[in-house]
Amino acid sequence: MKPVSQKVTASRILVVDDSEEIVKLVTEILQDSGYKTIVARNGREALKMVESDNPDLILLDAIMPAMDGYEVTRLLKSEDRTRLTPIIMLTGLSDFSDKMKGIELGVDDFIVKPFNHIELLTRVKSLLRVKQYTDELENAETVIFSLALAVEAKDSYTEGHCHRLSYYGAKLAEHIGLSDDDIKAVRRGGVLHDIGKIAIDERILRKPGSLTSEEFTLVKQHPVIGESICKPLRSLNNVLPIIRSHQERWNGSGYPDGLSKENIPVTARVIMTVDLYDALTTDRPYRKALPEEEAIRIMFDEAKKGLWDPTMMHEFIQLLKNNKIDKLV
Ligand SMILES: [Fe+2]
Repeated sequence: MKPVSQKVTASRILVVDDSEEIVKLVTEILQDSGYKTIVARNGREALKMVESDNPDLILLDAIMPAMDGYEVTRLLKSEDRTRLTPIIMLTGLSDFSDKMKGIELGVDDFIVKPFNHIELLTRVKSLLRVKQYTDELENAETVIFSLALAVEAKDSYTEGHCHRLSYYGAKLAEHIGLSDDDIKAVRRGGVLHDIGKIAIDERILRKPGSLTSEEFTLVKQHPVIGESICKPLRSLNNVLPIIRSHQERWNGSGYPDGLSKENIPVTARVIMTVDLYDALTTDRPYRKALPEEEAIRIMFDEAKKGLWDPTMMHEFIQLLKNNKIDKLV
């Protein structure tokens, strides 16, 4: 028989079962195929080992004392750090409703005991392949986020601008009732919106006086450049409208597309609104940070001039006045 796993020998698999016999059988099969195994005897122990050992895959018994496999699945699939770790549930039950329960909680595959070792290895191998793919995607995302923070350091904005925008933006998005997906997009857009500035000369970004028209033409490219940097990553799809449209203005005087009013994506309008607040309440090369009351007064005036979404601005001012936003520094 052909060995099933020659390329993934470094993968670490957590085997969770209260039966000595099953643990012995499964670990032997896995080790014979070159996988590393670690073992937990119940759900609680499994959670600790996931925390300390970060396994690539979990083989999880459904019924165990202390904490069963369903509860372990629920907890792991609700945590950002562990939600993509594949779980194969080992079950003696062929009951359809138990399987449904597992699927709803996020179990990736099932193996019904007794099983043969080819079946076990085939499923392990295929889920590890998926895991490798999601790891690569996550790594690419991490690189992009680090790049965005590097851009922040290049810009004349004070440190922490991206994180403040994420926080203020998510608060506003939540307040106006955007979907969970949009709130998440705003949170990420706060960090990524200016990533295209990576391509703009630092001297232009840091220039204290006004820009020449040539310099401004260059700066105006940053939303489109940012969009093209993030486009290859499907997971950032709903952040793209924020990156492309965060420099548009309500009256159509912005760039790159000259969009106006509701044609500007709502998530981009959220970021534009909180960006103005952040600009007013932090030190700039040409002036000190303004006190909140003055910032609110200016935001109010600015909205009247037609540059910003007046409803969005009004809602954000309400949040500030009701102390629903912690002032970040
Ligand atoms: Fe920008």
